[in-house]
Amino acid sequence: MAEPSLARDRVAHHWPVEDLPGVQFDPLLARLLREEPIAKIRLRFGEGDAWLVTRYEDVKLVTADPRFSRAATVDRPVTSMTPHVIGLPRGIGRIDPPEHTRLRRLVTQSLSPRRVDRLRPHAEATADALLTSLGQQGPPADLVDAVIAPFSMRVISELLGVAEQDWGRVRDWQRIILSSNHSRAEADAVKKEIGGYFRALAERRSGEPGDDLFSALVAARDAGELTTPELISLAVILQLNGMDMVLSTASSMVYLLLTQPGWAVRLRDDIGLLPVAVEEMLRFNPTRNGVGLPRIAMQDVQVGDVTIREGEAVYVSYLTANRDPDVFPEPDRLDLERAENPHLAFGYGIHYCHGAALTRMELDVLLSALLKRFPGLSLACPATGIEWLRGAVSRGPAALPVTWSP
Ligand code: HEM
Repeated sequence: MAEPSLARDRVAHHWPVEDLPGVQFDPLLARLLREEPIAKIRLRFGEGDAWLVTRYEDVKLVTADPRFSRAATVDRPVTSMTPHVIGLPRGIGRIDPPEHTRLRRLVTQSLSPRRVDRLRPHAEATADALLTSLGQQGPPADLVDAVIAPFSMRVISELLGVAEQDWGRVRDWQRIILSSNHSRAEADAVKKEIGGYFRALAERRSGEPGDDLFSALVAARDAGELTTPELISLAVILQLNGMDMVLSTASSMVYLLLTQPGWAVRLRDDIGLLPVAVEEMLRFNPTRNGVGLPRIAMQDVQVGDVTIREGEAVYVSYLTANRDPDVFPEPDRLDLERAENPHLAFGYGIHYCHGAALTRMELDVLLSALLKRFPGLSLACPATGIEWLRGAVSRGPAALPVTWSP
């Protein structure tokens, strides 16, 4: 093991975070996990270097340790993969306890596994209707455009009370905020627009509450439990993550199901295996490019062989944690039999994903309906012909041309 002082002198890896083909794992991430599990990186934007922590146990350590702060990243130009900071200033991802605990409590109730269960019949009806029109339209079709995008948009929008006539606008905003190829000015303008949209919606819901999550949050705001800027950033993050992450993840999973020999047939014959398959695909699928939001060390902290000094920025990679051979035997193999799967696809610690239960429900509903209703589904082009998202934060097929025997 290197001496801490030597470890500190590591040279920063310049990481341009470029688009990768298909589900290929980022070669730099793979190398760092293997050779330099606590490395220094420099991304395309922002200033200076940051630490990148890649091993499973170290990722858990950093994300569970209150000495690493998210609030301290606000107004700090930490080296970053996008020209703008994706999180909003009062966003839940960029605050610390006790503010974070207060906000989290308000959302946790509405997105708990029990509450999500109640949304299932409606999600099933939505998937059913979309698949019925797909069947009527006949093959070939783009499954992303025909089913997965409208499904993910509908489920989260109805939960938040965003009207159908506004979905086009919301989708355009999402494309700019969750991308790395727009300028900071463009992203700031869009953040302002989407903020204004939810601000106006909040005023309408305040007088006339609906039976939706956003109305519940507005009522909490009116009762003094959260401020208007907190309410707005919460709505924005829920809406954008809610559609973007489910859309790209579900699309990647359909791609995996259709390209892993025998998987679709096995799952169709035994649909009870689907939850295991979904967990394994969550572990394996590189859901995103680069890394998420950084943290700042508020004191010196020893992580592995490195002392991270007070004031230094640290990123973790949940993607590499999910490929750590100390936790997952044969980590680069997609294994339908993987019994132990404590993956970190939804993060770890106090910022653990709010949408985990909702995502699992949506993936289960969509994939099981698809397998059941379209037993002969296959790609309508060679796997190498699939186009993948470009310049986006999340990774996934941009389109999924499929065919089936009607
Ligand atoms: C496959 C789908 C998804 C994946 C892989 C995913 C993954 C993640 C990850 C890795 C984090 C960050 C953990 C951290 O900051 O350290 C996160 C946070 C978050 N996610 Fe998700 N997510 C998904 C879907 C969703 C959905 C559907 C929603 C909303 C309904 C959502 C809402 C959030 C929120 C609000 C946070 C911030 C929580 C906090 O900072 O306390 N996510 N997610």
